[in-house]
Amino acid sequence: MPTLHNELYGAMVLSSRAHAKIVSIDTSAALAHPGVKAYYGHKDVPGNNVWGAAMFDDEEIFASEEVHCVGQIIGVIVADSQVIAQEAARKVKIEYIDLPHVVTIDEAIAADSFIPLTKSIVKGDVDAKCAKVFEGQTRLGGQEQFYLETQVVLVNNKGESEFEIYASTQNANETQAVVASVLGLSANKIACKVKRLGGGFGGKESRTIPLACIMSIASYHTKRPVRCMLDRNEDMAISGQRNPFMGKWKVGLDENNKLVALDTELYLNAGWSSDLSVAVMERALGHIDNVYYIPNVRAVGRCCRTNIHSNTAFRGFGGPQANVIAETYMTEIAERIGMSQEQFREMNFYKEGQTTHFNQELKDWHLPKGYFQLKEKSNFDARKAAIEEFNKQSKWRKRGISLIPTKYGISFTALHLNQAGAMIHIYHDGSVLLSHGGVEMGQGLHTKMIQVCAEGLQIPLDMIHIVETSTDKVANASPTAASASSDMNGMAVKDACDQINERLEAYRAKGLSWKEIVHHAYFDRVNLSANGFYKVPDLGYKWGENKGQLFFYFTMGAAVSEVEVDLLTGSHTVIRSDVNMDLGRSINPSIDIGQIEGAFIQGMGWSTTEESLYFPNGRLFTQGPGNYKIPGFQCIPQEFNISFFEDVTHESVKTVYKSKGVGEPPLFLGTSVYFAIRNALWYARQENGHPGSFSLSLPATPERIRMAVGDSIAESSKLEAKQGER
Ligand code: MTE
Ligand code: GUN
Ligand code: MOS
Repeated sequence: MPTLHNELYGAMVLSSRAHAKIVSIDTSAALAHPGVKAYYGHKDVPGNNVWGAAMFDDEEIFASEEVHCVGQIIGVIVADSQVIAQEAARKVKIEYIDLPHVVTIDEAIAADSFIPLTKSIVKGDVDAKCAKVFEGQTRLGGQEQFYLETQVVLVNNKGESEFEIYASTQNANETQAVVASVLGLSANKIACKVKRLGGGFGGKESRTIPLACIMSIASYHTKRPVRCMLDRNEDMAISGQRNPFMGKWKVGLDENNKLVALDTELYLNAGWSSDLSVAVMERALGHIDNVYYIPNVRAVGRCCRTNIHSNTAFRGFGGPQANVIAETYMTEIAERIGMSQEQFREMNFYKEGQTTHFNQELKDWHLPKGYFQLKEKSNFDARKAAIEEFNKQSKWRKRGISLIPTKYGISFTALHLNQAGAMIHIYHDGSVLLSHGGVEMGQGLHTKMIQVCAEGLQIPLDMIHIVETSTDKVANASPTAASASSDMNGMAVKDACDQINERLEAYRAKGLSWKEIVHHAYFDRVNLSANGFYKVPDLGYKWGENKGQLFFYFTMGAAVSEVEVDLLTGSHTVIRSDVNMDLGRSINPSIDIGQIEGAFIQGMGWSTTEESLYFPNGRLFTQGPGNYKIPGFQCIPQEFNISFFEDVTHESVKTVYKSKGVGEPPLFLGTSVYFAIRNALWYARQENGHPGSFSLSLPATPERIRMAVGDSIAESSKLEAKQGER
């Protein structure tokens, strides 16, 4: 967006300590800097300085007495330009008294530092008799969203206490609500507008809000427009990432190796505030079974409060983390009982009509069918045999293959968020202005909504336009998240179309063209605007009671990946990946294939090369692409095939045109690359005298891979791949 007249720039003054008391703040040098207009801190907040993204209001907009992480926002310098503001912000002198801090999950457990809300799902009797019991631990790291466009906000003070906020947010509604509270104004004075995002991936579901509040405070006092766009290193350091997890599991089998019981404790690293972490944990608890029937389950989830950036939503939202834990217990147990990975998984698949540990019956359960279709299509058995041959001949390069399934529950775990709105205006020339509650961030939502509207009104696509997402067009919209946006907004759009169609029925019956229909209806004074609404039916899970429906339905799929690992360097190449998914009756298969490819690659990056590292003082080390490795072009599987389940029914699916949510579910399938790497290592370890099972933390970086080879070089180095660092 071009610069507005009189626009100022805001640069954040950030904590340099992980946990400390603020003794003094000296802004004199900063304010003396030419071009600097003002410094604002907690004393300058007109309304409420405290907010929370979900269950707890435990976050200050500006730190008042204490800071809880490196990068927490203490104040803002407002100046004529970005360069001046940033230079002056560095001149603000802050004195601290350091307090004890914790960075990792293990440190938080030792210090008993938790968010005070433990969630659990308990079904059956986990102490039921089992023939064999296995225990283990799974550790997996966080992930930076790395949207191409960093967090950015522009606030325009329009006078008369009206504020217009342009924000790169997935959550215009909550931005409006929190800004109103922070400014001490009512929500009807604040409009939040979103044209489109250069990617969100969950990182803009809540973490844009503090930035919007701060620019609003600056605009409130200066009465001028104020903008801030975070630099990449700032964005990575302060805006939060995927929650790292640690899962302790104890799994019981019967004498036929069927799963009988799962007793598990999940821990996530929430960072300094609760943000969405408890909801992430809820979703994790609901995905700890993955696709396996376990009659007796006790799953307990605790969120560790640590002194790092506040972790948040990232595509999958706890689902992939829990699926990883499930697939590591499946992998390690298969190794310990000496059964093939595939056989152990297949014999434990859920069957149609069985209920999950959260007591939801599985309907249209096609996972086994789609899995076997993929196994066949990808020529799995023959390729596995070929890999065994290859590995016998090759000492320093080993290949591995994996076949990994997933299911993903579609719905917000917070009941009230499962609602959506839409607005249609038809103008006299027949053109249609469509608005709905969802944000376009590259996932193709607007295209799908235009398709739904065109189908609903029976008009061509090019007669419909979406200008932007805005709180003054659709009120109380949920965040664009949980992969449910096209389901929910699609139904709201359809509802608006239905209302209009009812009013236009008589004109349609005359066989008029669309333009004629609209023209006659206008002169007959027919209302040509409609407000659509939808609430997802049937939902209402009760935590604790383990009753009521948690998810509207499940999206499911499976992936096969084959890799070659260089045992000397720990590097790897993805030879081929195949993905097969059930997306119902897809509204737009091209978009959906793009979503599968993108999510897969993100999941692959998360589980292989992307690693966030921290200094012991709590400062994030990996603050840019130089030392944080997202996938590049050469990481893409050399052969990459995407397909949809064939010959499947969707009787129970009650979504718009029976399409299914796609945005997040494929992400976990990218970890099939990790499991293939692990499989290659298993062959290497066999040869190197370590035939037993082993655990390999995620991500499988070259360092971790090299250290897990089990050869004399790795062993003699005595550098154990360090467990438990997060
Ligand atoms: N695709 C692109 N290109 N950019 C994004 O930021 N976000 C993902 C996914 N796909 C994202 C994306 C996430 S985290 C979610 S929840 C869904 O899109 C949200 O959109 P939907 O509900 O329309 O699927
Ligand atoms: N993203 C994915 N799932 C969820 C969810 O259940 N709640 C929220 N707020 N965001 C999500
Ligand atoms: Mo996606 S993590 O639900 O924004």
